[in-house]
Amino acid sequence: MDVLRDYANELDAEVHSTDPGGTITFPLMPVGQTVDMGHDTRGKPLFDPRIFSSREFFRNPYPYYRILRDHYPVYHDKLHNTYYITRYEDVWRCYFDDEGFNTIPKGSSSGVLGNTQLELSGIEHRRRRNLYGQHLVGRSLDLRVPSIQRLARDMIRDWDNQTDTPWVIDEGKKRIVELGMAFANEFPVRVVCEVLGFPSEAQKQFYYWYNSMMSGLGGSLTHKQGLEARQSLEDYVQDLVEERRRKPSFLKDEDGKIIGKDIITKLCETKVDGDYLSTEEITSNIALVVAAGGETTRGAIINMWYLLLQHPDQFAALCANPDETWDRAFHETLRNSSPIGGQPRHNTFDVNMHGMHVPAGSLMQMVDFSANHDDRVFKDPEKFDIFRDDLYSGKLLRSGFMKEGRCSHMAFGVGPHLCPGAWISHQEAVEGSRILQRTLKNIRLCTERMPKDIDGVSLAPIGIVRVPQLWLEYDRE
Ligand code: HEM
Repeated sequence: MDVLRDYANELDAEVHSTDPGGTITFPLMPVGQTVDMGHDTRGKPLFDPRIFSSREFFRNPYPYYRILRDHYPVYHDKLHNTYYITRYEDVWRCYFDDEGFNTIPKGSSSGVLGNTQLELSGIEHRRRRNLYGQHLVGRSLDLRVPSIQRLARDMIRDWDNQTDTPWVIDEGKKRIVELGMAFANEFPVRVVCEVLGFPSEAQKQFYYWYNSMMSGLGGSLTHKQGLEARQSLEDYVQDLVEERRRKPSFLKDEDGKIIGKDIITKLCETKVDGDYLSTEEITSNIALVVAAGGETTRGAIINMWYLLLQHPDQFAALCANPDETWDRAFHETLRNSSPIGGQPRHNTFDVNMHGMHVPAGSLMQMVDFSANHDDRVFKDPEKFDIFRDDLYSGKLLRSGFMKEGRCSHMAFGVGPHLCPGAWISHQEAVEGSRILQRTLKNIRLCTERMPKDIDGVSLAPIGIVRVPQLWLEYDRE
């Protein structure tokens, strides 16, 4: 019951933090069906923007996005003064046009992350984009894979040796574990800390800074804590910068061979327009890399396991052929239930799209969730199917979104801001999950501990809420 209550509270907290004050209550519908919001004289469904702040929308967003895609491809939500772009093709076109649809002045981090490349566009953005990106891709990343595997094995072994924690429970021959607390919350942060070259003695402290900054992004109540954590991180980084400028430090492979300088050293040595980056800029880059890569990769791992274990036939097929199938499972998870819903943009010029005039400087929300469920591109989009043949799931595309007649999902964005952490998060989720699947015998969902949907029986849908906890069970003998 506690788990259920937590889920309801979490849902309420998320809904209220975005609620503009509207008090209307929408009924909770069976997943896939919409509340009837009325029709105009020609039979076109009407759309009430207050639904965006409702509990119904958080758990069951996709049929509402379908109404927007089919009837209001550029939807002006007058309540929040935002234009929603929901079709796959429109979303990628806007993402590619970085000058016409720019990320300034987003300011969404409210000082917690600081001035980062996420909030820059055009030439300013390009100058910073390549400061450390090469560490997260290609050969450099390939050489890091054994360390990612080591970290995963260490974390799984640590929890397997634990008993009597609130998230690892022994019940005779089986063991129950909450995958977030035991593994997925901290694993991506530890991987990124290593690539950054963050001193190992400060890594526990780093996890505290990370958590506080992430909560600080979430609303006014926790904002102060986020700003304090950021200041404390910056104070720590100040000394580190001086030390790394005197004495660079290096990333090594598992045999101790040097791969290259770590990201913090690179940032300390980099000059932009002839000047070294300031401590403030270096801290912002560190904060961005960890903030962008922690919660997102956690979401990908948790969502992937939640979906796979609800589709036992697909999970069995994956176990029979794991080498080829984990990549598919990762991409289909990001298409079906991405941890990131979309990105805001501002249009530099007046725009006319689908007969709608959008004045320059408007806030336009690119809805990746909806683009990923656009049936103009993906057949039967609400269905989770790791074997679907219309989704590109090969080597991640640097500068495109379509190859061999298949489209990639939009969970990493596309164009100039394409997620530079896409390759490393892929390796974390896939390698970590491979090891989980090989190590834990007969893994299954612990359904009685999982939140239920409105009928009290079916498992709660992912919707656009993050899965708060994922309870698994496995055999010990
Ligand atoms: C499943 C995991 C992840 C998802 C779904 C994801 C998603 C995204 C998306 C959609 C963007 C584009 C933002 C925009 O267009 O405005 C982005 C940007 C970014 N991501 Fe990720 N990300 C993930 C993991 C990571 C990881 C592991 C790292 C770092 C190690 C990372 C670092 C970044 C950075 C630095 C940016 C800013 C890029 C720029 O503005 O040029 N991400 N991410």
